[in-house]
Amino acid sequence: MNIYDRIKQDHDHAREVMKKLKETTARAEKTRHKLFDEFKLDMWAHHKVEEAVFYSFLRDDTKMSDDSYEALNEHHVANGLLEELDTFPVGSDEWGVKFGALSELIEHHMDEEEKDFFPKARKLLSKEQADLMGKRFDARKKVVLAAIMPIDEDELKAA
Ligand SMILES: [Fe+2]
Ligand SMILES: [Fe+2]
Repeated sequence: MNIYDRIKQDHDHAREVMKKLKETTARAEKTRHKLFDEFKLDMWAHHKVEEAVFYSFLRDDTKMSDDSYEALNEHHVANGLLEELDTFPVGSDEWGVKFGALSELIEHHMDEEEKDFFPKARKLLSKEQADLMGKRFDARKKVVLAAIMPIDEDELKAA
């Protein structure tokens, strides 16, 4: 899978989870927790690996440099909001409002990547390079996700 399809796969999954989360109410604490925990880890890993695999290359191209820094800044803001939401009471209406704002930011960012960055990157990357990047993205994402996943409590108790 090339880098564009691989990133798009993550984006589509994120869009699905965000839609589900937006449909939850303050009373659905358990569902919110479960969905958000997964979403948060997946987004953090997505951003970090995207930066290391995709943006580190684009940033070196002067034509792409400013746009890339803007995108990295959006990652930074989104990661911070994810962190804030993580410690904010999930059973409150404010949580839903805050999540709405965060999901708008992420939606906008993902749309921009697909509509602006992908066509520009296609001009810079050969087909082979895009394929290799996709492979690297996939492998690294698995490693990063595994590294930031909370330790298995059952396993710990059984030790
Ligand atoms: Fe991104
Ligand atoms: Fe992305």
